[in-house]
Formats: sequence, structure tokens, C-alpha cells
Amino acid sequence: MNIFWVTSEAVPFAKTGGLADVSGALPDALAARGHNVSIFMPWYPQQAGRLDLKFSGKLELFGVPSGGGTEWAAIRIFKAKKNLTVYFLEFNKYFDRPRLYDWGGREYDDNAERFIFFARAAMEAADRLNLKPDILHANDWHAALCCVYLKSGLYAGRETFRNCRSVLTIHNIGYQGIFPKEKLPCTGLGWEYFNYTCLEYYDSLNFLKGGIMTADMVNAVSPSYAGEILSSEYSFGLEASLRSRAGQGRLRGILNGIDTTSWNPSKDHLLPATYSVKNISGKDICRAELQKEFGLPVRNDAPLFGVISRLAWQKGLDVYAAALEELLATDDFQFILFGSGEKYLEDWFQYLADRHPRKFAFYRGYASDRQSHLLEAGCDFFVMPSRYEPCGLNQMYSMRYGTLPVVRHTGGLADTVENYNCRNGETATGFVFWDLYPRALVNTMRWAASVRAESPDVFRAMRRNAMKSDFSWDRTASDYERLYRDAHS
Ligand code: ADP
Ligand code: GLC
Repeated sequence: MNIFWVTSEAVPFAKTGGLADVSGALPDALAARGHNVSIFMPWYPQQAGRLDLKFSGKLELFGVPSGGGTEWAAIRIFKAKKNLTVYFLEFNKYFDRPRLYDWGGREYDDNAERFIFFARAAMEAADRLNLKPDILHANDWHAALCCVYLKSGLYAGRETFRNCRSVLTIHNIGYQGIFPKEKLPCTGLGWEYFNYTCLEYYDSLNFLKGGIMTADMVNAVSPSYAGEILSSEYSFGLEASLRSRAGQGRLRGILNGIDTTSWNPSKDHLLPATYSVKNISGKDICRAELQKEFGLPVRNDAPLFGVISRLAWQKGLDVYAAALEELLATDDFQFILFGSGEKYLEDWFQYLADRHPRKFAFYRGYASDRQSHLLEAGCDFFVMPSRYEPCGLNQMYSMRYGTLPVVRHTGGLADTVENYNCRNGETATGFVFWDLYPRALVNTMRWAASVRAESPDVFRAMRRNAMKSDFSWDRTASDYERLYRDAHS
């Protein structure tokens, strides 16, 4: 198939979160299965500009209809592989910014214009480059408008889209792209699209909703999350739209995979020592290096808990901070956290790290790949107390590195981690709790620590189970192929 993959971020060109990891790995897995994949994304000079890419071409004077006139952009063409090409939309007015979506804790004022422009440019590019996609695969709210465009009079009749159907993947329904309705003319669509079966949402524009209502297939990034978003507790107001699509058989849940080549402890050049299921001794070297680098005493007799995360409400790290208050005061555990985001959380963790420097190391900011790999390898446990988690990638990276996840039972965390319950040492891969309270988290972390200290055989078996779990994209790429076929039926 010809697959046109539209995303705002993709590894290694630009990243704020898991969407980038998925957009870096899944198109690659699809290309390896023989499909022709074109990725369309913005050119963010701040991130991609550092990579020294060799372009195979550049389309100058690429016109994009915008606000009644035309804006002139360019497209940089990067051939990643024979059948995998990345098309970067270069338009510095909108995309040459210090960060992708926000600055100083505030979303950019022109995010509506930026991503209307992006979606419109994607449609124009497919046409101008004559890509003839069989599938337009839009990711999250940034690209969701493409699904609306494909069904609209603006693009439905164009030859390049004659055989094209659309798929919308929801990576996180907490971000929908909601803007004042006055922005509608900017899209080039008429007011007939501003109604509850398309873009209208409580008298505002909602890009993600437009995509949900018009895509030929919609999927969420794990089966559990696909079920959760049908309820008001998890849908951020879109349960009715999703239920209507589910009722038509148009909603699926497909578990994300991970890039098992770059995340492979037996071949990881970013680590001071590699290790495998058969010989795990290198993990202790990683642990010592991690402790040294981040100023924790180098010791093996206390459990080491790690976190790498955006510090956002979604991730439940306020509850983690409250749990740490207690654990730091009473337990002989070590903790390390890499993260940035909400200022009150950054300040809270900084305060705890300053008070307990021998127990808790806090790296405020975005860690390098080397640091992230070292943390995944060096810890005993990786904690994800998420309020909601569409899929979550770090628990899978952790398991692959023999670092047992301690997670809340939600979304993709529930789908990937098997809770240890004293009888399932031969299959369990982590520790799961249900209620998002500091007490539940404290107890679960103590329980995990006690298994490590008092049942070393079980702990070792769980590590092996975790390391042997298969989270490769190969496992799920065929589910996407089925999704694409169903989009055509
Ligand atoms: P989300 O996309 O909701 O943030 P995921 O678990 O899917 O959650 O993916 C998060 C990705 O971003 C992971 O690759 C994680 O390592 C990375 N990440 C998040 N915060 C940081 C940070 N402060 N430093 C380095 N990497 C981070
Ligand atoms: C989102 C979700 C995360 C998921 C990622 C990739 O950012 O928050 O759970 O793993 O997208 O699909």
C-alpha cells in the first residue's frame, strides 16, 4: 500500500513524547513489510536542524492556501530508505520556534493557524507530489483535520486521493486542538462543517473531534484505552462521538510496539555494559554508573526506583511526590527522576531532592538518549502512576531492560504489565495498583522492594519474564494492515 503518514513529531527529527517514538518506529516496520511509506511532518529547525541530514531534494515555492490567499512554503525531501521517505514542511513563520507547541508554560497563540496550515499543506503536498495514497494516516489533533479535508469538496474529487481512505490514531485524547469558532474560515471549509457531527464542540472548533467523526477508521493505542475513552471518565468530553463510531464498528485499539533495535540491552552502545537474559551481570555496572553520575551512593542493597516523564497531570506524579515524602522519611530506598513540565511539580521534586540528596536524584529537564537508556538499565523498578495512559512506552522499555514496572492499572499499562500476586512468579512482569492515592503507591512500592529483598528467586524470574516479553512492532504491524484494509471496506 501507499501510506501517507501525517504527524507533528517523529524520532529522530523532533520529539516531545511517545507520539514521536511511534512515528519513528511504526512507519519503519510497515516499510519493512513492503509498503511504501511517506511521512509528512513540520521542519523544526531547533531539533531536526541539528541532525545534518542529507536531503535528496527540495521543493521550493510550494503554495498552501491560507486565510483567503496563498502562503509559500518549501518541502525538504529525505529518503530514509528505499520505500520510506520523509517530507518536511518548511515554513519558518510557524515552525521555527524554541519549542514545538508552547513556551513559558503557555501554548502558542497561533496554534490553530499553525496546524490548520500543516494539515492543509499535507493535503496539497500529497497532490503536488502525486503520492496517490491508499491510506492517509493522521496522528493526534495536529493532523486530524486531514481526515475532514479528505471527505470535503476541497480534496475528495482530486485524482491523487481517488483510492484514499483515512485512519486517525488517537495517542492522547487529553489534547484535542480546541479553538474559537472564528478560526473556521482559516481552514477553507464552509460553515456546514461546523455542526455536532463534525467540527463543532460546545460552540468551539475541535480538530480531533472532526477527525474522529470523518476518518474511515479510528484507533487508540491500546485495547484498554479504546474501551476507556467510551466513558466520560476518560474521554475528555468526546465519549458520544466515540460511541457513535464504535457503534459503526469503526473504532479499534491496537497496542503500540517499541523499537527493539535501539532499545536492546544486549547491543546498547549507550550503556557502559551490555547484558541479556542469559547474563544479566552488566546491569549492575549500569546501576553503579547511574548512581555515580547522579550523585547517589553506589550500593546494591537498597532498591532503586526510576521515573522518566513529562511532569503533567496525566502522569499522576503529584501522587508520586506525596508518596516520596513518606518513603524518603522512613525507608532505605533510592530514587531517581528525569522530568520537566509543570512548575509546581519541578519545584516539589527539587525540594525533596535537596532535602534527601543521598536518596533522591532529580534531573530537571529533558534527558539525553544516553541518560535515558542508563536509567532504564540501572534501576530495579520503573514507576508509572498515571491517571490515564493511552499506551505508555517506558514500561515496555523497562521490561526489555529487566527493570520491573510499578504501574497503575489503566490503559496500555494494564495491557502490558502482569501483576505479581504470589502465585504467578513464572509469568508476572511487574507490580500493579488500582487506586491513585499516595497510600496505595507507597504500599505497592514497598511490596515490590520486599519481593526484591526477600524473594530473590521470584525477583530474578520476573526479570526474565519481563526481558523475554515481545513488544516488537512486528507483532502489531499486521493489526495496522488489517485496520487499513477495513478502512477500505
Ligand atoms: P507520553 O507520550 O505521554 O509522554 P510515553 O510513555 O508514550 O508517554 O512516551 C514518553 C517518551 O518521552 C519516552 O520515550 C520517554 O522516555 C520520553 N521522555 C519523557 N520525558 C522525558 C525527559 N524528561 N527526558 C527524556 N525523555 C523523556
Ligand atoms: C501519547 C500517550 C502515551 C502513548 C504515546 C504514543 O503521548 O500519552 O501513553 O504511549 O502517545 O502512542
